[in-house]
Amino acid sequence: MKSEPKHQNGYISAVNGSLIEIKGLENVVRLHDLIRISKFNILGEVIQIYSDYVIAQCYENTSGLKLKEEVINLGEPLSMELGPGLLSNIFDGIQRPLDRIYSFYQKDGFIKRGLEVKSLSRESKWEFSPYRKTGDNVHPGDIIGTVQETPLINHKILVPPGISGKIMSIAQKGEYTIKDEIYKLKLGEKEKSFTLLQKWPVFSKRPFTRKIQPQEPLITGLRVIDLLFPIVKGGTVAVPGGFGTGKTVIQQTLAKFCDADIIVFIGCGERGNEIADVLKQFSKIIDPKSGRPLIERIVIIANTSNMPVSAREASIFSGVTIAEYYRDMGYNVAVLADSTSRWAESLREISGLLEEMPAEEGYPAYLPSKLSSFYERAGVVELLGRDQKNHTLFGSITIIGSVSPPAGDFGEPVTANTKRFVQALWALDANLAYSKHYPAIDWFMSYSNYPDYLSDWWIERDIHWPELDYDWIQCRSLVNEILSKENELSNILQLVGEENLPEMDKFILFVGEIIREGFLIQSAFDSVDVFTDVNKLLSHIKIILLLYEEGKKLIQQGYFTEDIKNLNVIQKILRIKNNIENEEYKQIFNLKDQLIQEIDQLKLTSGSRK
Ligand SMILES: Nc1ncnc2c1ncn2[C@@H]1O[C@H](COP(=O)(O)OP(=O)(O)O)[C@@H](O)[C@H]1O
Ligand SMILES: [Mg+2]
Repeated sequence: MKSEPKHQNGYISAVNGSLIEIKGLENVVRLHDLIRISKFNILGEVIQIYSDYVIAQCYENTSGLKLKEEVINLGEPLSMELGPGLLSNIFDGIQRPLDRIYSFYQKDGFIKRGLEVKSLSRESKWEFSPYRKTGDNVHPGDIIGTVQETPLINHKILVPPGISGKIMSIAQKGEYTIKDEIYKLKLGEKEKSFTLLQKWPVFSKRPFTRKIQPQEPLITGLRVIDLLFPIVKGGTVAVPGGFGTGKTVIQQTLAKFCDADIIVFIGCGERGNEIADVLKQFSKIIDPKSGRPLIERIVIIANTSNMPVSAREASIFSGVTIAEYYRDMGYNVAVLADSTSRWAESLREISGLLEEMPAEEGYPAYLPSKLSSFYERAGVVELLGRDQKNHTLFGSITIIGSVSPPAGDFGEPVTANTKRFVQALWALDANLAYSKHYPAIDWFMSYSNYPDYLSDWWIERDIHWPELDYDWIQCRSLVNEILSKENELSNILQLVGEENLPEMDKFILFVGEIIREGFLIQSAFDSVDVFTDVNKLLSHIKIILLLYEEGKKLIQQGYFTEDIKNLNVIQKILRIKNNIENEEYKQIFNLKDQLIQEIDQLKLTSGSRK
């Protein structure tokens, strides 16, 4: 348990930008404790402690501060308020709700420094339904009751970590604010009451029983990812790419369509109006399963470049703390951070102010450890809490972070260090983007270490075609094989010219083109193409690979690539992505029959050419 805040005061002894030196607190504060400067009510965080002074970084503009001004020790680290009201909301990096800040702005015409707004509304009422009764013994993570937070998400009220005891009283079904007492526990000799709200420090992991091996994919609906570079629920991915290569579009597409239960979107915006854009888009999009706006499963942390650096620095940890809270309810949560380079720059700025010895390219030496402490909060975990029948429960956090290396140089420190801590990489290529091949995921530079975990999952969902007996793993390796062969051949092609290539090579080039144009390229702006589900993905790739296998036989029999290109079905295969809806995937089965028939027809009309 945390100690009660000690309200001991100190005073400002120096000011350096957002950093202030404080005397009088060096013997009472702990690293990362919050302080408050009485003048202007500015919040800050202790980042260095020396024998006769401490250094704090302020979350707000420090101009106008003078020496000797009073500083109050708040005695606790930066923490998130966790409870109903997080979903559909936008917060800044230190969890100030932007809509309420904005309403002050509208009233006063500016945002006053030191504005104290509670993160979660104290007035909103939530319908609580108890799940336990008086006399029950409960332990950390156990479900006390539930609140329907949004029509999409049932919010479980959990016993906080570190608390076990007997329920002395529990609220009846009814409407409560997050300040009302909901239950009372007997803890040893004492009684303590609890509300719908709990707090958790952002730089500490919320506890769980153990990490377990991931085994389910996070389906993204992007074909190149779900087939070639898949990710698991509980996994980690980095998405490096230069300016304009499509990082934000990928992240936003995932936020809308990936099959996580909850999305925490951390926008460290590169363009000023991007966040407003995100919001508009998310509130318009309707979840096909529930018919509800998707924003009801999303929490947004917005960092614009005009926010103080320290709030930006906290943001990714604030986001992942909220994610852990929903994970602890048993949900699969995806944390999407776009882009972590803006976050790393805030580290660099603060480090510069502190005159620390810089490591590579001015980033502080602790950049790798900060990155690792973010990505290591991903995973599938067995939760502390159990259900009423004492069954174990699981939840997961997937972290997908984009990185924007200056000049697209993947060797720079943020990209290089991020690669050390993730299990998959979707490398975006400027040339692909330039030639309008989106998503611009480079199939030679990208990788995923997850396929082996997922093969069973895909085999269970396989579609079976007697004509092509390949499962997901085999489809993957064949596609990889064709693409690398195509790459080799296109290098040779430049030397010898297409007419001098053997017929089989011409055919492989043709299939490579179908895979790229008809399968890998996927428009985020076409209502059918934007999301491909599992059935459609499998049928789609299988028909292309069937064309490859049957075509190879034809070439061996002396037919020409041109003969195959001229089949009517080819144009239809190229248009599967735009023309066939996910639910109509069986139309691809008909195309498969058509392909077989047209090949038979070709053999009948021309006979073997040999
Ligand atoms: N999947 C896609 N489909 C169609 N166009 C795309 C796609 N991805 C990116 N684009 C185009 O590229 C532009 C830049 O993408 P964006 O995600 O903003 O790049 P970044 O965040 O890497 O700077 C978009 O505005 C859009 O026109
Ligand atoms: Mg972007």
